Amino acid sequence: MAKPPYSAASERNSEPIARVLQHELRDCGDVLEIGSGTGQHAVFMGGRMPSLRWQTSDLQDTHAWIRSLIETSQRQNVLPPLLLDMRAPVYRGKSFDAVYSSNTMHIMSEEAVGNMIPFVASVLKPGGRFCYYGPFKRGGQFTTESNEAFDHSLRAQDALMGLRELETIDTMAAANGLRQQRIYAMPANNLLIVWQRTPAPGK
Ligand SMILES: C[S@@+](CC[C@H](N)C(=O)[O-])C[C@H]1O[C@@H](n2cnc3c(N)ncnc32)[C@H](O)[C@@H]1O
Repeated sequence: MAKPPYSAASERNSEPIARVLQHELRDCGDVLEIGSGTGQHAVFMGGRMPSLRWQTSDLQDTHAWIRSLIETSQRQNVLPPLLLDMRAPVYRGKSFDAVYSSNTMHIMSEEAVGNMIPFVASVLKPGGRFCYYGPFKRGGQFTTESNEAFDHSLRAQDALMGLRELETIDTMAAANGLRQQRIYAMPANNLLIVWQRTPAPGK
């Protein structure tokens, strides 16, 4: 196995994300992460919130890195990755109290994002939360020049990548029973958005 990649951005944003998740996931047990990447967030959040069971997932080619980081960290509450590809997501296990993902929507295609939202709704328990961190366009505009430059650099690498419109994601979420609850402004012009699946009747 090649040396696992290290993400300087994950190192920087772990602490501010953890502060939000400690509040948003305070009543949660089982959390699914989509697109765990290097596994840095999984291990960091698992250490910060030991009562969570943090299920990692990603495309196959990242699994060896994620496994190796989990083993080194010895976090018992961070589980080895599932193969979850949002181009054709298949999952038949138990439901989750929350789903977390970061910096994935601008990497996967629009079509995969269009699969991800109903998939998230389908794996969440009623009342469960979807917490997503990353950069977005809002109202058809880039919110900063740096986000616009980032979008251009992504599209130059791969025409299917690029920043998504928050309003489009919200519309898709609402159509799948996920209501937007909160938007946190995060460092480096990112947002952390929290959607909640419609609670069960009477809750
Ligand atoms: C920029 S990395 C973000 C990793 C990590 N979440 C973070 O914030 O550091 C994007 C991640 O999305 C994953 N990804 C790309 N396409 C995907 C797909 N179709 N289904 C699931 N994950 C995907 C990549 O494998 C990668 O781990």
